Amino acid sequence: MSAADSSASPSRLVIRQPDDWHVHLRDGAMLADVLPYTIRQFARAIVMPNLSPPAATSGEVAEYRARIMACLPKGSTFTPLMTLYLTDATSPDDLAAGFALGVVTAAKLYPAHATTNSAHGVTAIRGIYPVLERMQEVGMPLLVHGEVTGGDIDIFDREAVFIERVLVPTLRDFPALKLVFEHITTVEAAAFVEAAGENVAATITPHHLQINRNAIFAGGIRPHAYCLPIAKREVHRLALRRAATSGSAKFFLGTDTAPHEVKTKESACGCAGIFNAPHALEAYAMVFEEEGALGRLEGFASEHGPRFYGLPLNESQVVLERQECLVPERIAAGGGEIVPWMAGEVIRWRFAGVQPLG
Ligand code: NCD
Ligand code: ZN
Repeated sequence: MSAADSSASPSRLVIRQPDDWHVHLRDGAMLADVLPYTIRQFARAIVMPNLSPPAATSGEVAEYRARIMACLPKGSTFTPLMTLYLTDATSPDDLAAGFALGVVTAAKLYPAHATTNSAHGVTAIRGIYPVLERMQEVGMPLLVHGEVTGGDIDIFDREAVFIERVLVPTLRDFPALKLVFEHITTVEAAAFVEAAGENVAATITPHHLQINRNAIFAGGIRPHAYCLPIAKREVHRLALRRAATSGSAKFFLGTDTAPHEVKTKESACGCAGIFNAPHALEAYAMVFEEEGALGRLEGFASEHGPRFYGLPLNESQVVLERQECLVPERIAAGGGEIVPWMAGEVIRWRFAGVQPLG
């Protein structure tokens, strides 16, 4: 944050341009319609590979990257950082070749059936040990959807159980593996990451900083507050807010923006996912301001992520102005409509654009 804006309640916030270290950009018409929201605020983004079918080989990742590039407006400098969807059949050679070429930035571990489009995910972590071995060797980050599946584990316990059953043994066997515990939602996950080595970090979404599980059932069932991992008790939200605003370089911005058409959310079996890209930075700014930590937003949003991934910091800035803005109830996309995060709410900041680093 620039010095001139460092008062407790600034009217303008100028920070180095952030990156989004976890986005779902989808494909086809939906990709074309949601991409503008992400590239408006973020210089780079880690793009999730959970398409249907998933981007599970370096070739498929390269093709997906080309489809994203084809949707960028002329002159855009946005960089999609691509991820490869790990399956039981992932080839270490193909993955390492994609990484060496710069086509694949990281590999994504979805436990089979953990979330949207994860049916092809990994059934047992030991089955991909040769892949993890190679990733550790070449320094390629593993991005983890950290939930066990299995109907015997309560949905609210799936992340904490994942730590014991999967993360602890994996990091014991691959102590130097670069690992991002994605979209953490619990006090246990925040504590685990804080205590782990420098090779372990976590992303935190705006919505998990803003709501606890009551929001999913406020006066009736609220499909637009449903995502995976599901929001937990208040004690967990408070732990996430402490972690995000602590200044620790292990925690950084990842929105997990996950658009679904309104008809697939408002359904007898609604999809998991929250579309927060339109006002993501404003949401984070509100949280950091409420915590009296606006001065730490820049580290979380714009510095910790590139440092973990070994990438340069962005040479541009974004400007937020204090102004009340109404979040639209619906946004047209993919031939249908999406209900954005905080729909119908008044937010306290307005995104005023990007400028060269001053
Ligand atoms: C994501 C999606 O819709 O692709 N949904 C979600 O609730 N976050 C998948 C995921 O990241 O788990
Ligand atoms: Zn996600």
